Amino acid sequence: MSAENKTSRLGAVYNAESSEEVSRVYDAWAEKYDEDMSLAGYRHPAVSLAILSRHVPRGAKPLLDAGAGTGLIGEWLAIIGFEHVEAVDISAGMLSVAGRKGIYKQLHQAALGARLPFSDNQFAAIISAGVFTTGHVGVEGLDELFRICTPGGTIVLTVKDVLWQSGFSDRIKELESNGVCVLIDDTGPYVSMPGEQGTKPSRCIALKVS
Ligand SMILES: C[S@@+](CC[C@H](N)C(=O)[O-])C[C@H]1O[C@@H](n2cnc3c(N)ncnc32)[C@H](O)[C@@H]1O
Repeated sequence: MSAENKTSRLGAVYNAESSEEVSRVYDAWAEKYDEDMSLAGYRHPAVSLAILSRHVPRGAKPLLDAGAGTGLIGEWLAIIGFEHVEAVDISAGMLSVAGRKGIYKQLHQAALGARLPFSDNQFAAIISAGVFTTGHVGVEGLDELFRICTPGGTIVLTVKDVLWQSGFSDRIKELESNGVCVLIDDTGPYVSMPGEQGTKPSRCIALKVS
């Protein structure tokens, strides 16, 4: 597989104009995704797992991997002591690869940004890497995460810096002043794919739900 193909697949996801298109592009990419992201030096799973471990006690459950994709994070969550993790993703193809790894208790196909198929306060913690980014999910995806995360729970998200600067950070400040959450961690900007020229910076944040 050429590096050019990898770059064009990455370009296609960032330029998607609807959630149907995002889902189609990821369905087509699913079998090559892990290999491409490894070549790109993809850092979000490691960074978000480190931030989660800093704030969520070992064994807390259940956890949700939101926009779980092929399960890069799920594989490592199991290793570091989180045994009950569920996955939600818009792409059936990505979930199918995750399913073959046998690491999630349940797989759910649903779209962040719309109503999610979970109860209020269902999860002890939520982790989401590479999803709040260009062409994927914006600030509109946040409210449902607060509904389904238990009070005292933790939400760890990577956020593309361009989204952060254009409304995401203001929305977090608003939620803090309304007593909904507290921003408890923020890595500041870093490049999520150092092997991919032109990757724009992201950050990883942790929110404690009030
Ligand atoms: C860059 S991948 C990240 C996957 C995984 N979290 C990781 O770090 O490898 C983005 C994932 O978000 C999913 N996605 C994009 N838009 C979504 C939405 N609105 N709701 C749920 N999943 C979405 C895609 O299908 C894809 O699996």
